[in-house]
Amino acid sequence: MAEIRPYRASDRDDVYEICVKTGKSGQDATGWLDTDDLLPDIYALPYVDLAPDTAFVVDVNGRARGYILGVPDTRAFVERLRTEWLPGFEAKYPLTDDESATQNFIRDGRNPERMLIPELDDYPAHLHIDLLPELQGQGQGRMLVRTLLQALASRGAPAVYLEYAPDNVNAGAFYERLGFRALPSSTTGTRVGLRTDAAV
Ligand SMILES: CC(C)(COP(=O)(O)OP(=O)(O)OC[C@H]1O[C@@H](n2cnc3c(N)ncnc32)[C@H](O)[C@@H]1OP(=O)(O)O)[C@@H](O)C(=O)NCCC(=O)NCCS
Repeated sequence: MAEIRPYRASDRDDVYEICVKTGKSGQDATGWLDTDDLLPDIYALPYVDLAPDTAFVVDVNGRARGYILGVPDTRAFVERLRTEWLPGFEAKYPLTDDESATQNFIRDGRNPERMLIPELDDYPAHLHIDLLPELQGQGQGRMLVRTLLQALASRGAPAVYLEYAPDNVNAGAFYERLGFRALPSSTTGTRVGLRTDAAV
């Protein structure tokens, strides 16, 4: 039985695994980058460590098999990343000037200010969502978004945005179906937003 519930600290390893297994534009990223830690260290673990109250998982027999991670106030989150997360991240991931995929992600991870999009006043929240393949296509993604929208709205966020990889066409179709719309600053149409009072 799959059940959506709040994140618990004991889910942290499962969150890591889900992030890696869905991290290459929705496909398994195991072995893709120089270390599998890199994607979770940017897109998942800082969220569950710094903002666990707005993290939810799909629990199947006691294991997290999917998650949605969000923050109601991206600006405040970026400040916390800068002071609480980046020192460890920068020590773990030195920057070089090569143009490898690994280095490009490291550059993103060391630049949390990339999240301060022009529409931030209107869309102050942002999110990440990933489900293992066996849970996809069963309505769990829609229910996770619904759950997070309520949590963000109750914390005062009027709208949420996210960015997805342009080649992740499945994610694009999902977001469009739920009512997310491209933001004006998006050159690729893959930076999308939705009001938190939307019926999804
Ligand atoms: C993208 C993802 C979060 C969607 O979650 P999901 O549980 O598979 O989606 P749902 O079953 O809740 O689908 C909700 C609606 O979107 C539609 N939808 C979902 N994926 C779709 C696709 N690939 N093409 C067309 N429609 C799609 C569904 O048909 C459904 O519409 P309906 O309720 O009107 O029938 C999930 O598949 C996933 O985690 N994929 C791998 C990781 C990933 O890409 N994450 C996003 C990174 S930005």
